[in-house]
Amino acid sequence: MKSAYLLSLALSVGTSMAYTVYNVSVGEGALDYTPNTITADVGDYVVFTFLSGTHGVAQASYDSPCSPYSDSTEGAGKTGLYSGLITPIRNYDPTYTIRIDSTDPIWFYCPEAFHCQSGMVGVINPGDGQSLAEFNSVAENLSRNLAPAVEFGNTTIGATTSDASSSSSSSSSSVSSTPSSSSSAASSVASTSSSSSSSVSASAATSSSASASNANIAGSAVILAVMAAGLRLLA
Ligand SMILES: *[C@@H]1O[C@H](CO)[C@@H](O)[C@H](O)[C@H]1NC(C)=O
Ligand SMILES: *[C@@H]1O[C@H](CO)[C@@H](O)[C@H](O)[C@H]1NC(C)=O
Ligand SMILES: *[C@@H]1O[C@H](CO)[C@@H](O)[C@H](O)[C@H]1NC(C)=O
Repeated sequence: MKSAYLLSLALSVGTSMAYTVYNVSVGEGALDYTPNTITADVGDYVVFTFLSGTHGVAQASYDSPCSPYSDSTEGAGKTGLYSGLITPIRNYDPTYTIRIDSTDPIWFYCPEAFHCQSGMVGVINPGDGQSLAEFNSVAENLSRNLAPAVEFGNTTIGATTSDASSSSSSSSSSVSSTPSSSSSAASSVASTSSSSSSSVSASAATSSSASASNANIAGSAVILAVMAAGLRLLA
């Protein structure tokens, strides 16, 4: 069917390249992330699924386990990833999804009680000379396990930043006058320009509408052109 073909063409133009979704179970055994080491490319996603207990995923620097990334020298002035503390309820396993925006190492720990000291640590893309065993052994001796103040980074698969996050569902069902992602730092350029393209993507490409990048804006223009051409054909 012609219109279906056009829709899928539009979607493929507007959506970025292929990505891999990595899955990490949180609290599958006890105080653990499974797997605890992931290698991912830019544009990939990591989905943490909370299976038991009360746990979180908080970013730290390699040099400073069990404390928020923003408190470290490396992370000064930045907002680290943080899921918040999460307790699964019956028949529902909550998730926290991040997008890999660079291949810089992401070290993380559970800030609940002394879980970090007890080996509940992990890493995405460890750097040269860095090891999870070393991070863990430093963590073991620390007297404090600190949680970040701000939840940050949760996004949806298909979103083009890791910051589409916290604010409700991403679908742009109506044009909101305020920028959608109210949270901190990284959200960048996007928000203002996104409203201009949202009317298009709302009808055609809801799955990828979570945020706008320059690429998406360009993509949306192409989508518009393709759809207009298609409508003329059908008319
Ligand atoms: C992650 O889980 C999803 C859904 O079950 C699956 O499609 C995908 O292949 C998994 N990713 C990896 C890397 O195993
Ligand atoms: C992340 O966002 C998804 C989709 O909106 C939501 O279901 C999930 O509960 C959120 N997770 C956290 C930790 O906020
Ligand atoms: C942790 O503490 C133990 C016992 O005090 C000590 O032997 C070990 O070297 C310490 N590890 C690190 C990485 O500081």
